[in-house]
Amino acid sequence: MSEQITRIDQRIQGMATRLSRALDSNMRKSFLPDSHKELRRFNAAEAAGLIGVSLDHLRKQFFNDKIDLEVETDSRGRRWYTAQQIDLARRAIAQDSRAKKFQYLVPGRRDGDRLQVLSVTNFKGGAGKTTTAIHLAQKLALDGYRVLAIDLDPQASLTTMFGFRPEIEFAESGTIYDAIRYDDPVPIKEIVRETYFHNLDLAPAGLLLSEFETETAHALNNNVQPPFYQRLALCIGEIEANYDVVVIDCPPQLGFITLSALVASTGMIVTVVPSMLDVASMAQFLQLASSLLATIAQVGATPDWDFMKFLVTRFEPNDGPQTQMAAFLRTMFGDDVLTRTFVKSSAVSDAGLTQQTLYEVSRADFTRQTYDRAIESINGVVSEIEAHIQAAWGRKEA
Ligand SMILES: Nc1ncnc2c1ncn2[C@@H]1O[C@H](COP(=O)(O)OP(=O)(O)O)[C@@H](O)[C@H]1O
Ligand SMILES: [Mg+2]
Repeated sequence: MSEQITRIDQRIQGMATRLSRALDSNMRKSFLPDSHKELRRFNAAEAAGLIGVSLDHLRKQFFNDKIDLEVETDSRGRRWYTAQQIDLARRAIAQDSRAKKFQYLVPGRRDGDRLQVLSVTNFKGGAGKTTTAIHLAQKLALDGYRVLAIDLDPQASLTTMFGFRPEIEFAESGTIYDAIRYDDPVPIKEIVRETYFHNLDLAPAGLLLSEFETETAHALNNNVQPPFYQRLALCIGEIEANYDVVVIDCPPQLGFITLSALVASTGMIVTVVPSMLDVASMAQFLQLASSLLATIAQVGATPDWDFMKFLVTRFEPNDGPQTQMAAFLRTMFGDDVLTRTFVKSSAVSDAGLTQQTLYEVSRADFTRQTYDRAIESINGVVSEIEAHIQAAWGRKEA
């Protein structure tokens, strides 16, 4: 269900031009100058929330022995669920119930639904790509989707977030590079790993991945097949039956690696920090993306996206210039900007210090208000993206 739009490169070109012009005049007017990780357990309220039923409903299912799970119970009689148990409970409730609304609890693909491949991109480092990608991948996994995260950044921040040490563990091999390289590639399933996070696998990255950029220049000269822009898509095709959603964390450049992600994608999320410099850099990104996609389109590789959305990240709603910038983006791009924003929060950066996400840390470790505000924000973002995924599958309205 592609949005029937003019060619994507032309559409992006239009965005780039509009944005550059408006930025120009705007700028003049107003803007001057180690050990491997393990996932925690979740309490009953969290479990019910993730499954999408009331706490009461979840309790009743247990009393009626509808759900047969050995859930850990603490000294005060409170249950603590693993992510896997939450998923099993979800599937049991969906299966047991004749009510239609409960069938929606298991949200993944059905026959004929195409795999959703979502790329998180932007030119700049520090635009919140990796943070967004990992929260998106983890929340979709907790919600019951089968998720593959692909780290396409040679800096391998996403891989690090999963508790790996790429410079040691993947110095020689074991990354996505092995699957997409020109010389003796391996099947992608050999490098994909299960993670400590239920429903979430990882195709790791490492510094070696940067070789792909130089090797591609050589391969193009020698007409090596398949060409660079098909290689990632073909790899994903090999394992597509195992997943509902693939989340790709892109590097902060628009090289061959990012381009191959754009071609393999069914949806695009461009993160943008609402500051003057970031938005100006995004205008350049759109400009370049559009001309590169146009070049690839000439050889017949036109991306087929169900959606492309801008996500305002690291947003500080109390900061005047930022709110103005966010409003400006909405004026420019309307519905192409996600309604929800990912707020800047010390809960996110503090968790990040120990390579954790908001879904991994415990609420008790933070000021409640801080944690709640952050998690509400990212949950809102993910559920909006989820609605676009469901819409691409022809269910529910986005
Ligand atoms: N919503 C947020 N709130 C607070 N800090 C954030 C947020 N998003 C990202 N950061 C921090 O900003 C830095 C850069 O983010 P990152 O996601 O790595 O950007 P990118 O992948 O685009 O380079 C990281 O230190 C991260 O912890
Ligand atoms: Mg990154």
